[in-house]
Amino acid sequence: MIDFHTHILPGIDDGSRDMDMTIRMLEAERDQGVTHICATPHFYAHRRSVDFFLERRNRALKEVRKVLADRPDLPQITPGAEVLYFRGMEQAELLPELCLEGTDILLLEMPFDQWSNEMAKAIETILTKRGLKVVLAHVERYLRFQKDKAAWEQILNMPLTLQMNAESFIHAGSFLRQNKEHKLCLQLLEERSNCILGTDCHNMDERKPNLAEARAVIEKKTGTKRLEEIDAYTETLLGNE
Ligand SMILES: [Fe+2]
Repeated sequence: MIDFHTHILPGIDDGSRDMDMTIRMLEAERDQGVTHICATPHFYAHRRSVDFFLERRNRALKEVRKVLADRPDLPQITPGAEVLYFRGMEQAELLPELCLEGTDILLLEMPFDQWSNEMAKAIETILTKRGLKVVLAHVERYLRFQKDKAAWEQILNMPLTLQMNAESFIHAGSFLRQNKEHKLCLQLLEERSNCILGTDCHNMDERKPNLAEARAVIEKKTGTKRLEEIDAYTETLLGNE
Protein backbone atom coordinates (compact mmCIF):
# COMPACT_ATOMS: atom_id res chain seq x y z
CA MET A 1 0.00 0.00 0.00
CA ILE A 2 1.28 3.44 -0.99
CA ASP A 3 0.93 6.83 0.68
CA PHE A 4 1.53 9.19 -2.23
CA HIS A 5 1.63 12.53 -0.40
CA THR A 6 3.41 13.12 2.91
CA HIS A 7 5.45 15.72 4.80
CA ILE A 8 7.31 13.06 6.71
CA LEU A 9 10.94 14.16 6.30
CA PRO A 10 12.22 15.92 9.43
CA GLY A 11 12.84 19.67 9.60
CA ILE A 12 12.21 20.50 5.95
CA ASP A 13 8.85 22.26 5.87
CA ASP A 14 5.78 22.55 8.12
CA GLY A 15 5.69 18.74 8.36
CA SER A 16 7.61 16.47 10.75
CA ARG A 17 9.52 18.48 13.34
CA ASP A 18 12.33 16.03 13.99
CA MET A 19 13.55 12.45 13.55
CA ASP A 20 11.55 11.22 16.52
CA MET A 21 8.30 12.46 14.94
CA THR A 22 9.31 11.04 11.55
CA ILE A 23 9.84 7.59 13.07
CA ARG A 24 6.52 7.75 14.89
CA MET A 25 4.80 8.73 11.63
CA LEU A 26 6.50 5.86 9.80
CA GLU A 27 5.41 3.46 12.52
CA ALA A 28 1.82 4.70 12.23
CA GLU A 29 1.96 4.20 8.44
CA ARG A 30 3.35 0.67 8.93
CA ASP A 31 0.61 -0.19 11.44
CA GLN A 32 -1.95 0.75 8.77
CA GLY A 33 -0.39 -1.49 6.15
CA VAL A 34 1.54 1.16 4.20
CA THR A 35 4.71 -0.26 2.64
CA HIS A 36 5.78 2.63 0.42
CA ILE A 37 5.82 6.35 1.10
CA CYS A 38 6.35 9.28 -1.21
CA ALA A 39 8.07 12.03 0.76
CA THR A 40 6.81 15.25 -0.79
CA PRO A 41 7.98 18.37 1.09
CA HIS A 42 6.62 21.73 -0.05
CA PHE A 43 8.59 23.44 -2.80
CA TYR A 44 7.92 27.15 -3.13
CA ALA A 45 9.75 28.71 -6.07
CA HIS A 46 9.44 32.21 -4.59
CA ARG A 47 11.31 31.14 -1.45
CA ARG A 48 13.99 28.62 -2.43
CA SER A 49 16.05 27.58 -5.43
CA VAL A 50 15.60 24.03 -6.68
CA ASP A 51 19.23 23.23 -5.82
CA PHE A 52 18.86 24.50 -2.25
CA PHE A 53 15.61 22.53 -1.81
CA LEU A 54 17.07 19.30 -3.16
CA GLU A 55 20.20 19.62 -1.06
CA ARG A 56 18.20 19.99 2.17
CA ARG A 57 15.67 17.32 1.22
CA ASN A 58 18.31 14.79 0.31
CA ARG A 59 20.26 15.47 3.50
CA ALA A 60 17.13 14.79 5.59
CA LEU A 61 16.37 11.69 3.53
CA LYS A 62 19.87 10.36 4.10
CA GLU A 63 19.43 10.69 7.87
CA VAL A 64 16.08 8.88 7.75
CA ARG A 65 17.50 6.13 5.58
CA LYS A 66 20.28 5.56 8.13
CA VAL A 67 17.56 4.74 10.64
CA LEU A 68 15.59 2.68 8.09
CA ALA A 69 18.64 0.51 7.45
CA ASP A 70 18.09 -1.07 10.88
CA ARG A 71 14.30 -0.97 10.67
CA PRO A 72 13.12 -3.24 7.86
CA ASP A 73 9.65 -3.13 9.42
CA LEU A 74 9.20 0.51 8.35
CA PRO A 75 7.97 1.63 4.90
CA GLN A 76 10.38 2.50 2.10
CA ILE A 77 10.63 6.15 1.07
CA THR A 78 10.82 7.67 -2.40
CA PRO A 79 11.64 11.39 -2.39
CA GLY A 80 9.69 13.96 -4.36
CA ALA A 81 8.17 17.39 -3.83
CA GLU A 82 4.83 19.11 -3.62
CA VAL A 83 5.42 21.91 -6.06
CA LEU A 84 3.26 25.01 -5.71
CA TYR A 85 2.24 26.42 -9.09
CA PHE A 86 4.31 29.41 -10.11
CA ARG A 87 4.13 31.64 -13.15
CA GLY A 88 6.37 30.38 -15.93
CA MET A 89 6.89 26.97 -14.29
CA GLU A 90 6.19 25.25 -17.60
CA GLN A 91 9.50 26.72 -18.84
CA ALA A 92 11.54 25.97 -15.70
CA GLU A 93 14.55 23.96 -16.72
CA LEU A 94 14.85 22.09 -13.43
CA LEU A 95 11.21 20.95 -13.31
CA PRO A 96 12.11 17.26 -13.87
CA GLU A 97 14.38 17.41 -10.79
CA LEU A 98 11.29 18.04 -8.68
CA CYS A 99 9.52 14.91 -9.93
CA LEU A 100 9.19 11.84 -7.76
CA GLU A 101 12.65 10.24 -7.89
CA GLY A 102 13.06 7.79 -10.76
CA THR A 103 9.81 8.92 -12.40
CA ASP A 104 8.43 11.76 -14.53
CA ILE A 105 5.61 12.42 -12.04
CA LEU A 106 5.15 15.95 -10.74
CA LEU A 107 2.97 16.49 -7.66
CA LEU A 108 1.45 19.91 -8.33
CA GLU A 109 -0.21 22.06 -5.70
CA MET A 110 -2.48 24.66 -7.27
CA PRO A 111 -3.26 28.12 -5.84
CA PHE A 112 -6.08 28.34 -3.30
CA ASP A 113 -7.58 31.05 -5.45
CA GLN A 114 -9.43 31.48 -8.72
CA TRP A 115 -7.67 29.42 -11.43
CA SER A 116 -6.92 31.11 -14.73
CA ASN A 117 -6.59 30.20 -18.36
CA GLU A 118 -2.86 30.90 -18.02
CA MET A 119 -2.61 28.16 -15.38
CA ALA A 120 -4.47 25.72 -17.61
CA LYS A 121 -2.12 26.51 -20.47
CA ALA A 122 0.92 26.00 -18.23
CA ILE A 123 -0.29 22.55 -17.16
CA GLU A 124 -1.04 21.64 -20.74
CA THR A 125 2.52 22.61 -21.73
CA ILE A 126 3.97 20.56 -18.85
CA LEU A 127 1.97 17.54 -20.04
CA THR A 128 2.54 17.86 -23.76
CA LYS A 129 5.79 19.75 -24.41
CA ARG A 130 7.69 18.78 -21.25
CA GLY A 131 6.30 15.25 -21.31
CA LEU A 132 5.80 15.05 -17.55
CA LYS A 133 2.94 13.36 -15.73
CA VAL A 134 1.01 15.66 -13.42
CA VAL A 135 -0.69 14.70 -10.17
CA LEU A 136 -2.95 17.43 -8.78
CA ALA A 137 -2.42 17.48 -5.01
CA HIS A 138 -5.60 17.31 -2.87
CA VAL A 139 -7.86 18.16 -5.80
CA GLU A 140 -10.91 18.53 -3.57
CA ARG A 141 -9.55 21.60 -1.81
CA TYR A 142 -9.70 24.06 -4.71
CA LEU A 143 -13.26 23.97 -6.02
CA ARG A 144 -14.63 26.45 -3.50
CA PHE A 145 -12.34 29.16 -4.89
CA GLN A 146 -13.60 28.69 -8.47
CA LYS A 147 -16.39 31.21 -8.99
CA ASP A 148 -15.67 30.84 -12.69
CA LYS A 149 -15.28 27.11 -13.32
CA ALA A 150 -13.87 27.31 -16.86
CA ALA A 151 -10.21 26.70 -15.94
CA TRP A 152 -11.20 24.12 -13.30
CA GLU A 153 -13.12 22.09 -15.85
CA GLN A 154 -10.41 22.49 -18.47
CA ILE A 155 -7.70 21.28 -16.07
CA LEU A 156 -9.69 18.40 -14.61
CA ASN A 157 -10.39 17.11 -18.09
CA MET A 158 -6.69 16.95 -18.97
CA PRO A 159 -4.91 13.57 -18.91
CA LEU A 160 -3.54 13.94 -15.41
CA THR A 161 -4.06 12.29 -12.03
CA LEU A 162 -6.25 13.52 -9.19
CA GLN A 163 -4.89 12.97 -5.68
CA MET A 164 -7.32 13.17 -2.79
CA ASN A 165 -6.50 13.52 0.89
CA ALA A 166 -7.48 10.71 3.24
CA GLU A 167 -8.83 13.29 5.67
CA SER A 168 -11.52 14.39 3.20
CA PHE A 169 -13.05 10.92 3.26
CA ILE A 170 -12.95 10.59 7.02
CA HIS A 171 -14.38 13.89 8.18
CA ALA A 172 -17.61 14.87 6.60
CA GLY A 173 -20.32 17.11 7.86
CA SER A 174 -18.70 19.01 10.74
CA PHE A 175 -18.30 22.06 8.53
CA LEU A 176 -19.96 22.91 5.23
CA ARG A 177 -16.55 23.13 3.53
CA GLN A 178 -15.54 19.64 4.73
CA ASN A 179 -18.88 18.28 3.69
CA LYS A 180 -18.52 19.68 0.17
CA GLU A 181 -14.97 18.37 -0.15
CA HIS A 182 -16.09 14.95 1.09
CA LYS A 183 -18.90 14.83 -1.47
CA LEU A 184 -16.60 15.97 -4.27
CA CYS A 185 -14.14 13.16 -3.46
CA LEU A 186 -16.87 10.53 -3.62
CA GLN A 187 -18.22 12.05 -6.84
CA LEU A 188 -14.78 12.07 -8.48
CA LEU A 189 -14.18 8.47 -7.41
CA GLU A 190 -17.44 7.52 -9.04
CA GLU A 191 -16.96 9.47 -12.28
CA ARG A 192 -13.23 9.24 -12.96
CA SER A 193 -10.70 6.45 -13.04
CA ASN A 194 -7.59 8.66 -12.57
CA CYS A 195 -7.79 8.99 -8.79
CA ILE A 196 -5.18 8.22 -6.14
CA LEU A 197 -4.95 8.69 -2.38
CA GLY A 198 -2.49 10.35 -0.04
CA THR A 199 -2.59 11.38 3.57
CA ASP A 200 -0.78 14.71 3.27
CA CYS A 201 0.30 13.89 6.83
CA HIS A 202 2.31 16.60 8.60
CA ASN A 203 2.62 15.33 12.19
CA MET A 204 1.17 12.95 14.77
CA ASP A 205 -1.56 15.29 15.99
CA GLU A 206 -4.16 16.94 13.81
CA ARG A 207 -2.60 15.86 10.51
CA LYS A 208 -1.41 12.35 11.24
CA PRO A 209 -1.15 9.33 8.91
CA ASN A 210 -4.72 8.09 8.42
CA LEU A 211 -4.82 6.10 5.20
CA ALA A 212 -6.40 2.98 6.69
CA GLU A 213 -9.34 4.92 8.10
CA ALA A 214 -9.98 6.62 4.74
CA ARG A 215 -9.73 3.32 2.87
CA ALA A 216 -12.33 1.81 5.18
CA VAL A 217 -14.72 4.67 4.35
CA ILE A 218 -14.05 4.30 0.61
CA GLU A 219 -14.60 0.56 0.77
CA LYS A 220 -17.87 1.03 2.61
CA LYS A 221 -19.16 3.76 0.29
CA THR A 222 -17.90 2.60 -3.09
CA GLY A 223 -17.07 -1.08 -2.65
CA THR A 224 -13.91 -3.19 -2.52
CA LYS A 225 -13.57 -3.22 -6.30
CA ARG A 226 -13.20 0.57 -6.52
CA LEU A 227 -10.50 0.48 -3.85
CA GLU A 228 -8.64 -2.22 -5.77
CA GLU A 229 -8.90 -0.10 -8.91
CA ILE A 230 -7.35 2.86 -7.09
CA ASP A 231 -4.47 0.64 -5.93
CA ALA A 232 -3.95 -0.78 -9.42
CA TYR A 233 -4.04 2.69 -11.00
CA THR A 234 -1.49 3.95 -8.44
CA GLU A 235 0.87 1.02 -9.14
CA THR A 236 0.59 1.59 -12.89
CA LEU A 237 1.24 5.31 -12.50
CA LEU A 238 4.38 4.59 -10.49
CA GLY A 239 5.47 2.01 -13.02
CA ASN A 240 5.46 -0.78 -10.47
CA GLU A 241 3.61 -3.17 -12.75
FE1 LIG B 1 0.89 18.57 1.17
